[in-house]
Amino acid sequence: MNFNKNQPYNSLPDLPPKADLETPEIFKLTIKANKLLAELKGYCLTLPNPNLLLNTIILQESKESNAIENIVTTQDELYKASLNITDKIKNPAAKEVIQYREAMYWGLEQINKNGIITTNMLVGIMQKLRNSDDNIRKNPGTKLANPFTKSIVYTPPEGESLIREKLAQLEKFINDDTLNDLDPLIKMALIHYQFEAIHPFGDGNGRTGRILNVLYLINKDLLGLPVLYLSRYIIQHKSDYYKFLREVTEKNNWEAWVKFVLKGIGETAEMTLLKINTILQLKQDTQPLIKKVLKSSYSKELVDLLFSYPYIKTSILEENSIAKRQTAAEYLKKIENTGLITSIKIGKEVYYINTGLMKVLSE
Ligand SMILES: Nc1ncnc2c1ncn2[C@@H]1O[C@H](COP(=O)(O)OP(=O)(O)OP(=O)(O)O)[C@@H](O)[C@H]1O
Ligand SMILES: [Mg+2]
Repeated sequence: MNFNKNQPYNSLPDLPPKADLETPEIFKLTIKANKLLAELKGYCLTLPNPNLLLNTIILQESKESNAIENIVTTQDELYKASLNITDKIKNPAAKEVIQYREAMYWGLEQINKNGIITTNMLVGIMQKLRNSDDNIRKNPGTKLANPFTKSIVYTPPEGESLIREKLAQLEKFINDDTLNDLDPLIKMALIHYQFEAIHPFGDGNGRTGRILNVLYLINKDLLGLPVLYLSRYIIQHKSDYYKFLREVTEKNNWEAWVKFVLKGIGETAEMTLLKINTILQLKQDTQPLIKKVLKSSYSKELVDLLFSYPYIKTSILEENSIAKRQTAAEYLKKIENTGLITSIKIGKEVYYINTGLMKVLSE
């Protein structure tokens, strides 16, 4: 074993690993995760307006993914974030959430444009989420510590050209499916480990790796929309996450790692299905109440908008041609009287929070 946690792990092997990934347990979990993921994908196809929930779901993921670094984001700052009033955001944690979301959207755009996942793309994602022009690590000295004990657990490979070479190999593994016949979900688990073990950046490797996961699922057509995020699962099982990553390096224990990720995919797909269902149900229950107060001015589009943003203001109604400013303001006032939304003032602007939606999201 040539691994020493205090020495750069320059001999990190390329994928695929020399390990048996076709155990009965992995097989069972692969089938289960694929089934639940396919269900989620299919369910999204039946949604009348799938993009509706996306803004909200991605925002939530941005918050959760960043919380892994114990950033406490106030809901209020997050609401502002959801409306892109970035310049008004002073709270650095909320800023990070917004940057993460922008990095995610940018990555999705790249995937749609290029159809493959590249090193440059990963660099771009890291730069966006950190709002930095940092690049692949050039200098030695990056070490990984256990978040609980703070003791050093891993030293990633060093030397820019070596790191680039490892990323090039990873890129090939990601994009060329003729090289092996592994299930894409198993591949996703391998890729996540590999990316984190290469640890190409000075910071932001975890967040970039989590964005890479969902981009990969989209790229392999396992999802049509970016709705499955493992961040919550990873936070909830953080010590296992760290333990299993280490065991791959130290004991070549790929099986435990792959099982951990497959379970995460299955559980998260299930949870996401439930959540989308709850939101749609809430929306349906809301419709008659809004109809009652708006009468003939009621429109389906307005309700759609209320569920596209946890936080809304009159100008959004105006931009979406629901009504002119004055009328839009009246609509929101009337809806507020039903208790469905609550107004708050930030600066000179009045915002309305969809309290029910916020509650489901933060559950
Ligand atoms: N033993 C290990 N081997 C490989 N990768 C590891 C190991 N321990 C942790 N990691 C990865 O390192 C990431 C943290 O690296 P970094 O600080 O660059 O990312 P981040 O995005 O800033 O932080 P975070 O993931 O905590 O939000 C973890 O999320 C994990 O994926
Ligand atoms: Mg970090």
